[in-house]
Amino acid sequence: MFNDTAKNTVFLPLLVRNNMSNPKKWYQSWFNTPYYHILYNNRDQSEAENFIKNLVSYFDISPDKRVLDLACGKGRHSIFLSSLGYDVLGVDLSNQNIAEAEKYSNPNLKFRVHDMRDPLPS
Ligand SMILES: C[S@@+](CC[C@H](N)C(=O)[O-])C[C@H]1O[C@@H](n2cnc3c(N)ncnc32)[C@H](O)[C@@H]1O
Repeated sequence: MFNDTAKNTVFLPLLVRNNMSNPKKWYQSWFNTPYYHILYNNRDQSEAENFIKNLVSYFDISPDKRVLDLACGKGRHSIFLSSLGYDVLGVDLSNQNIAEAEKYSNPNLKFRVHDMRDPLPS
């Protein structure tokens, strides 16, 4: 009797363990899912520009400063910061995002695949 029940039962700890054996961490896969893109649907270039305008004005960042955009995604903030005259480095874990961002790179706007938990090589 117990054996029959056991055969047809899904054991939650096993499911959890199997899921945890997925070699990717959540932050390595979540940002490439359709759900993330639905959630971020309204975050476009104009929203990024508004945000940066407010940030630059609030912190009074002079244009001779260098800016590090950690977890830059496809670079929407970096691109606008560069257009304002800042020297910008955007870094992100995702090869795909950096490949997209690099389409906009120029001598004052660079992108690099990098895990922000590690020190940035000089
Ligand atoms: C919510 S998105 C924001 C992207 C961008 N800042 C924007 O607003 O368009 C978060 C980004 O963080 C990146 N990310 C997550 N963990 C990271 C890590 N440890 N190091 C670098 N980037 C990471 C993801 O690849 C993703 O592009």
